[in-house]
Amino acid sequence: MERPATRTPDVLPSGPVPEDVIVRFVDVHKAFGKKQVLTGLTLDAMRGETLVLMGPSGTGKSVTLRHAIGLMRQDSGDVWVSGHDMSRIKPAELSELRKHTGYLFQEGALINWLNVADNVALPLIENSDLPRDEIDDRVREKLKLVHLPEVWHEMPGEISGGMKKRVGLARALITEPKVILYDEPNAGLDPEISQSINELIAEIADGLGVTSLVITHMVSCVRTVADRVVLLDEGKVVVDLPPDEFLASDHPRLVRFLGTDPD
Ligand SMILES: Nc1ncnc2c1ncn2[C@@H]1O[C@H](COP(=O)(O)OP(=O)(O)O)[C@@H](O)[C@H]1O
Ligand SMILES: [Mg+2]
Repeated sequence: MERPATRTPDVLPSGPVPEDVIVRFVDVHKAFGKKQVLTGLTLDAMRGETLVLMGPSGTGKSVTLRHAIGLMRQDSGDVWVSGHDMSRIKPAELSELRKHTGYLFQEGALINWLNVADNVALPLIENSDLPRDEIDDRVREKLKLVHLPEVWHEMPGEISGGMKKRVGLARALITEPKVILYDEPNAGLDPEISQSINELIAEIADGLGVTSLVITHMVSCVRTVADRVVLLDEGKVVVDLPPDEFLASDHPRLVRFLGTDPD
């Protein structure tokens, strides 16, 4: 599939978004108490695109993803996801939208007392009327997709960190989402395992044609998965470029960020 490498225009119009814009933030502000976290975030992600978000710790990357799935609401500005105005979305629409959105949590977030298959099946058990044998077929298919067919009965405590991420990914994929949000999918993994996760993210993007937002600190992840990369700093976008240009950019904040965060 042809994937676009566009740049977010400096000024985006408010109002309904074109169909090929899957995620749009327009001048979004969000504070927690006195702490301003998002300070005018403006960003587009196009259909089928893999957009990587980089930036120092605490700059609002995870908060951005939470807005994109309606777990947080902005103080001002617009957030549009798959044609929905997130400040006006109705509960039924939000739950439908979430079915089409996969979210790989930073912590993996597997449930320790459920085996791998039940962890992967959970979103369908909770949110669908599918019979268990059909759910099991889907679980089998997703575990195969993440190259993990042999762990059906294992408990989360019995498998490695890299395998846990794959199980988390299989769970994020189980509802066949059109948008996948990855919060630091390679944090805490050794370089080899981490690269295998990067390759999996690229494979899923190409194979399933989904739109992906990926938070990472790793240049290797940018090289493997990105169609476009943004640097967030203090709650807004300061650099927005295709990966080659991003990594070669001499923007001072980017140089400082990459220089202090080697990979
Ligand atoms: N639910 C919350 N309540 C209060 N403060 C929060 C909440 N979520 C995030 N923050 C604060 O917002 C800032 C940005 O957080 P986050 O988006 O998680 O950073 P990162 O870029 O590292 O992912 C941090 O200072 C964090 O403490
Ligand atoms: Mg984070």
